[in-house]
Amino acid sequence: MSTRDQIINDPEHCNKAEAFEAFDDIPTNPHLGNTIGDVIARRYGRRDMLKGMLGVSAATALFGTSAMIAPHQASAAAASRYDFAELPWGNDETHHIAEGYTAEVLLRWGDPITADAPAFDPMNQSPEAQLKQFGYNNDYVGFAEIAPGRGMLCVNHEYTNEEVMFPGLGRQDRAGFTGMTKEIVDIEMAAHGGTVVEIAKGANGKWAVDLTSPRNRRITPLNTEMTFSGPAAGHDRLKTSIDPTGTKVIGTINNCAGGMTPWGTYLMAEENFHGYFWTDKLDADGKPDISAQPKAASMKRYGVPGRWYAWGQYYDRFNIDKEPNEPNKFGYIVEVDPMNPDATPIKHTALGRFRHEGAETTVAEDGRLVIYSGDDNRFDYQYKWVSREAVTEANGVFGSSLLSDGTLYVSRFNDDGTVDWLPLVHGEGPLTAENGFNSQADIAIDTRLAADALGATPMDRPEDAQPGPNGTAYLMLTNNTRRAPDQVNAANPRPESAFGHIIEIREKGGNHSATSGTWSILVKCGDPAVADVGAQWNPETSENGWFGSPDNAAIDADGRLWISTDQGSGWGKTGKSDGLYALETEGELRGHSKLFFRCPVGGELCGPYFAEEGETLFLAVQHPGTDGTKDFKGFERASTFEDPATRWPDFADGMPPRPSVLVVQKVGGGKIAV
Ligand code: FEO
Ligand code: CA
Ligand code: CA
Ligand code: CA
Repeated sequence: MSTRDQIINDPEHCNKAEAFEAFDDIPTNPHLGNTIGDVIARRYGRRDMLKGMLGVSAATALFGTSAMIAPHQASAAAASRYDFAELPWGNDETHHIAEGYTAEVLLRWGDPITADAPAFDPMNQSPEAQLKQFGYNNDYVGFAEIAPGRGMLCVNHEYTNEEVMFPGLGRQDRAGFTGMTKEIVDIEMAAHGGTVVEIAKGANGKWAVDLTSPRNRRITPLNTEMTFSGPAAGHDRLKTSIDPTGTKVIGTINNCAGGMTPWGTYLMAEENFHGYFWTDKLDADGKPDISAQPKAASMKRYGVPGRWYAWGQYYDRFNIDKEPNEPNKFGYIVEVDPMNPDATPIKHTALGRFRHEGAETTVAEDGRLVIYSGDDNRFDYQYKWVSREAVTEANGVFGSSLLSDGTLYVSRFNDDGTVDWLPLVHGEGPLTAENGFNSQADIAIDTRLAADALGATPMDRPEDAQPGPNGTAYLMLTNNTRRAPDQVNAANPRPESAFGHIIEIREKGGNHSATSGTWSILVKCGDPAVADVGAQWNPETSENGWFGSPDNAAIDADGRLWISTDQGSGWGKTGKSDGLYALETEGELRGHSKLFFRCPVGGELCGPYFAEEGETLFLAVQHPGTDGTKDFKGFERASTFEDPATRWPDFADGMPPRPSVLVVQKVGGGKIAV
């Protein structure tokens, strides 16, 4: 068994990214100091301290009413705001949806997205075919309506699972990359990135891809040219052999979650970009040796180079020995105009460079654009962007100054239940030349180092951050099994947190652009029946309703919160497939969760995205048949192309499992869960 197999089979680690991270000896944030005094103060618990300090009404405002009610006092009569009968939990080879709903496949890996695309042939895949077909591992799903029943679907393709994509290859060993070829690398690259495709609803009420649309396109790291906006555009640290101007880059990688702007453009978040960079220089332990790199501290803080993929063996731009500045061109938010296939995508450097999980947008009370984005790494930070100007018809366009002129903030979660948003502005506080920040460009490129200097709060892996109604935002802190007991704080309250938690922020005055607010823990995830887990749910939550490892979130047309999970290879700890849950945020049932949809074995659930005023829900099932299949009863081994744990969704002989986007609708029509 290779080191990589040992890591991948270690249930501590989630998806491929997490498995590889372990190999890279991360976390990469060295600023984790905690005095004994801090720890003792925190052990009393913020809630206990505040209950003593605040009156009942103030405490209720801070924590919500349900948190103030002892379990036996909760009213069984309280009505759920989500009208559906919850699905029983489980884990098997296919997907399941609550009764009264359909969940049908819209797009699978390899499906043609243009009229001239070849049919999918997994035994003979080619880069040329893949460039015209739906990519792998669909993550974010967004939708821009053109007319009733018609619009542009925008889908991220985060990464590739070679062992179930390519015949005869098996699980890649990262030391030697046995069996890897340039042809396979090119297919991997063509299967990454994004898909923009026009879809329309037929007379039967079902959505289908319009292959005739001239707007359909793939965006890939193989051949899609992009430009930069903001403070780092044209900076020396972005200059490379093929781009001496520092203003251009080929492609985007590891696009995880994302967002749609109020003007209908598509934001792709570049997450684990470090994993794609290569070096031939290894230390005695076989790990990348970057000691001779001039910007080694910056590279180290970002985990560059991860050496997860062999791309750097075939493309100099992914080899830091040859192109040390190329990694500075990744880790941004990319804006794509889904309506104009000729529009060159833009990387907006003002929004910072880190492992962007997503980029969910909202318009604040004062009219300014606000974007929440987490940095998904153990002990990294939660950020938000606030534009300088208010959104207007004139500036609400592709490439808008709203995404290059504004302020990036990082959060500090105080133990008293308040949160401060700290501005990352050159010349303010420690962000000066004396500390290595020569201009705003250095802050845009070394955002993590700048946030370290400001004293931001290291979090339990910030995944999706979803703005909600009335100045709320919901933060998915997915898990952090490496937080030691002396590193806990009120906002990250559990050591060795295997199941994660969700924080609700209430921005001051209900205004998303505020620079402070209050926060509370909405739920602590995991099995509430196991005392050691320390879970916290509304006591009305059933055995079907609790979950672990929240990853993505969505708000529906009625302002209600939905959560999808990614337990990675650790799903055996709960026995449950990943799925979609309806999570109450208001009233007596606050913290109550119900299961609506669950994935086939080994898959995680991405999307979710509500369209058509809540009548259509898009879901993305990522990497079916891969994660944790050693825990799948009756199978109990790793999946390969020839021998997968499931052949979802086709269930055809010889067809591998295929990541797919599904459309959920109510039988007979109407709003979902109403
Ligand atoms: Fe790609 Fe943080 O999930
Ligand atoms: Ca994610
Ligand atoms: Ca979301
Ligand atoms: Ca994920």
